[in-house]
Amino acid sequence: MDKIVIRGGQQLSGSVRISGSKNSALPILAATLLTKERCVIQRVPDLSDVHYMLQILAHLGAEVERASGTVTVQAEKVNTVAPYEIVRKMRASVCVLGPLLGREKEATVSMPGGCVIGDRPIDLHLRGFEGLGAAVRVHAGNVKVFAPELHGTTISLEGKSGTTVLGTDNVMMAAVLAEGTTIIEDAAREPEVVDLANFLQKMGANIEGAGTSRIVIEGAKELHGAEHEVIPDRIEAGTFLIAGAIAGKEVTVNRVRADHLTAITDVLRDCGFGLNGTNGSLSIRPNGATKSLNIKTQPYPGFPTDMQAQMCALLSTVAGVSSVTENIFPQRFMHISELKRMGAAIELDGSTARIRGVGSLSGAPVMASDLRASAALILAGLLADGTTEINRVYHIDRGYEMIDEKLIDLGAQIERVKV
Ligand code: EPZ
Repeated sequence: MDKIVIRGGQQLSGSVRISGSKNSALPILAATLLTKERCVIQRVPDLSDVHYMLQILAHLGAEVERASGTVTVQAEKVNTVAPYEIVRKMRASVCVLGPLLGREKEATVSMPGGCVIGDRPIDLHLRGFEGLGAAVRVHAGNVKVFAPELHGTTISLEGKSGTTVLGTDNVMMAAVLAEGTTIIEDAAREPEVVDLANFLQKMGANIEGAGTSRIVIEGAKELHGAEHEVIPDRIEAGTFLIAGAIAGKEVTVNRVRADHLTAITDVLRDCGFGLNGTNGSLSIRPNGATKSLNIKTQPYPGFPTDMQAQMCALLSTVAGVSSVTENIFPQRFMHISELKRMGAAIELDGSTARIRGVGSLSGAPVMASDLRASAALILAGLLADGTTEINRVYHIDRGYEMIDEKLIDLGAQIERVKV
C-alpha cells in the first residue's frame, strides 16, 4: 500500500499531457463484447479500473491484448456471467450487462454494492432493459436479465437525481441489436456517452442524437469489429487546471478537448484566473485577485460532480465565503473532514459545503476515501505549508495515470512511498 508525500509551496509551471478518458474507455471496452470480430481501442489509460475491465472481458471469454495505450479485444465466444469477485472491485462493471443482453439475450452480473460517494442504484438501467422486453431477476446478490428477443421501444431514463450516464450507455448497448427502433428520452449528454455512440457507429450501429437528451437507435442484425481512439479525460484535465490555479505560474494542459471543459473553465474564470488556448490545449495563470463562488453540480453540460472535491480544495484559500452544492451525489463530501484537518474552514449544511477562505493550509497526514477526494487532497497538499501525507492512494490510481510523475514534471515536490 503506497502513500503520497507532498512538500507544499512549490510554484508549478510547464505543460502536462492529458491521458485518455477513464469514463469513456470503460464502456467502450465493454462494447467490444457486442461483436465476434476484433476491436482495437487506442489511448486507453493505464489505470486499475481499466485493468479490472480487462479482467472481466477475459473472464467472459474474450481474447485481450494490451500494448501500452492500445487494447485489442476479440470476443469470438462469450459466457454471460460476471462474478462478484471481479465486479465488487469496480461499479462500472455493470456496463457489461447491456452488451451481453444485446448479443446473447441474457446476462448475469453481481449487483454493485455500496459506494462511499453515496447511494448508487441501477434501477434506471433495469427499467431500460425491461422496456426492451427483458425480464429482470435479482437473486443471491446477482442481477440476471434475459429475453427470448429484444424489441425497440421508447424509454425515459429520468430518475430522482436526473438522468444516468452508465444507464444511458447500457441501454444504448442493448438496443443496438434489438428489433426495430428504440428512443431513449432524458438520456445523459456527457461527452463520454457521445464517444461510446461514435464507437458503436463504427461497429455498424445506427444511432442518432447522442449528446442530446433524445437518442434514437435503429436495431442492427449484427455488429462488426472497429478501431477507435478514446477522447481525452476532461476530469483529469480539469484537475490539472486547478493544480495550475492553486500553485501555478502558468500551467498548460495538452491533448484536451477544450469544448468538453467549458463548465470548468467558466468557473475558473469567474474565480479570477486567466485562461486561454486552442481546442487542443489550455493554459491557466493567476490574474489578480480571486473571487469566492457559488457552485452547483449538474449533469453535463453543467458543472461536473467529478470536479466538486477539487473545487473545494481550491476555494478553501479563496477569500470570502463560497458555497458548493452537490446535486448528483448529495453525500459526496468525504474530503471535507480531511481538508479541515489541514486548516480549511468548511461547514456542511445538507448537500452544501460553505467554505470561508483561509490565508493558508498546513500539511498533515490525511486519508483518501475515493478517487476524486484523493485528487482534492493532493491539490491541497501542493498548496499547504509543510508536508502532507496522503494514505490509501490506491484510490488515485483508479482514475489518474501517473499523477505524481506528471506533477513532478510541473515542479511539484511529491513522492510515492511504500508503507
Ligand atoms: C458516471 O457514474 C461516472 N462513472 C461517475 O464518475 C460520475 O460521477 C457519474 O457518472 C455522474 O457524472 C463512470 O462513467 C464510470 P449516474 P454513473 O448513473 O453512471 C442516480 C468518477 O469519479 N441513479 O449518472 O454510475 C445515482 O444514484 C466516477 O470517475 C439512479 O437513481 O452515475 C446518482 O445520484 C464517480 N438510478 C445519479 O443518478 C440509476 O439506475 C447519477 O448517477 C442510476 C443512477
